[in-house]
Amino acid sequence: MCWENTKKEKLNTVDQDTKDMNKDDNKQLLITTARRIANVEEYYFSRKLAEVRSLDSPQHPVINLGIGSPDMAPSESAIEALYSTARNPGSHGYQPYKGIPALRKGISDFYQRIYSVPLNPDTQVLPLMGSKEGIWHISMAFLNDEDEVLIPDPGYPTYSAVTRLVGAKVRTYPVKEELGWRIDLNALKREDLSKVKIMWINFPHMPTGTTATHDELQALVALAHQHRFLIVNDNPYSLILNDHPMSLLSVPGADAVALELNSLSKSHNMAGWRLGWVAGKKEYIDAVLQVRSNMDSGMFLGLQQAAVEALGHDQQWFSRLNDVYRNRKRIAHELLDQLGCVYNKNQSGLFVWAKAPESVADVEKWIDEILYEARVFITPGFIFGEAGRRYVRISLCATEDKLQEASNRIQAFLMNQNQTANQTLVS
Ligand SMILES: Cc1ncc(COP(=O)(O)O)c(C=O)c1O
Repeated sequence: MCWENTKKEKLNTVDQDTKDMNKDDNKQLLITTARRIANVEEYYFSRKLAEVRSLDSPQHPVINLGIGSPDMAPSESAIEALYSTARNPGSHGYQPYKGIPALRKGISDFYQRIYSVPLNPDTQVLPLMGSKEGIWHISMAFLNDEDEVLIPDPGYPTYSAVTRLVGAKVRTYPVKEELGWRIDLNALKREDLSKVKIMWINFPHMPTGTTATHDELQALVALAHQHRFLIVNDNPYSLILNDHPMSLLSVPGADAVALELNSLSKSHNMAGWRLGWVAGKKEYIDAVLQVRSNMDSGMFLGLQQAAVEALGHDQQWFSRLNDVYRNRKRIAHELLDQLGCVYNKNQSGLFVWAKAPESVADVEKWIDEILYEARVFITPGFIFGEAGRRYVRISLCATEDKLQEASNRIQAFLMNQNQTANQTLVS
């Protein structure tokens, strides 16, 4: 394994060099950066994937099981809609800030069909460039410095990063392993929630793959009413390996206190197209539009037409997609079994969340060892919060062949480790 060691040493040196350079740069900067960016780090994947790419080579390709970026194509009809719109010379101007009426209607019909939620297409939906963008706009629209924001731990890191960027206060709440990765509502009810302005929830939950029941959502909506905070469900995984897609907006009383983000990234293989939306009460949508219309314009018409097409996909589209993910998941489970990880087989969404074996002292280091020696990248759970420190997350966005190859490499990596351990014992 001397190639890997050399590479690792090289990377450590590069890392150190970069750090030293940054220190020097800061000293030399004539213009200082805003205080707010000192409160956040560059997004983990933005840094880590650069390292993964630098390790990748034709002789030693890295298998990336890190991010949830679907590797399959969108439908032919969506691609055709983009293509034919792009060919029309009249398609290239600015678009309405609220999105084209056909897209808003498409979203509203989708909500009715999938979640049985009626939405007024003119007033209750706002197309966005993915749900990640929505986290920013909602935070900008609703948060003041003194406000607290309830954020799940473990959870999607963008909720806390954006909260810090807008100057509000992060307050994590546990999603507990001993409760099957559910929210401990009783504990939450006992807390002083008087300063909370937004509560982020994300069901199906990333990274744990837990879904919420209607009753749980109902109880959360009641809590939001009681303490007058906005509850936002970030819902991009509802159609992946989930038999009961649900919207927070289907809960009675949600209208007054809730918004929902959703997207075509995962369920329609369109992550790079940046197509999502926020849905909810007119006045709340208007507040988000007030922010968004000052930062951005409507998306390219071709993308919007493609989204209209994609939103109309029938059940067959989702069945085919989920068959693929189900098969991949079996191999991901085998891989995790080899590593001695423990997991729940019934997780929803694009990942498998698993507990590292007790024998592993430092999961982050272990993940790096697997990356450098087996050239398989798995996400360490610590990036989702303190509660994720003993966990790893495997993405299903890799073909069965790749997952199988990853599993084989990990088997070889473990055998190699055992041999080294035995040799050390003998000598
Ligand atoms: C929980 C969660 N929310 C939002 C996003 C971003 O989705 P989009 O591509 O719609 O911005 C992700 C992507 O990984 C996610 O895991």
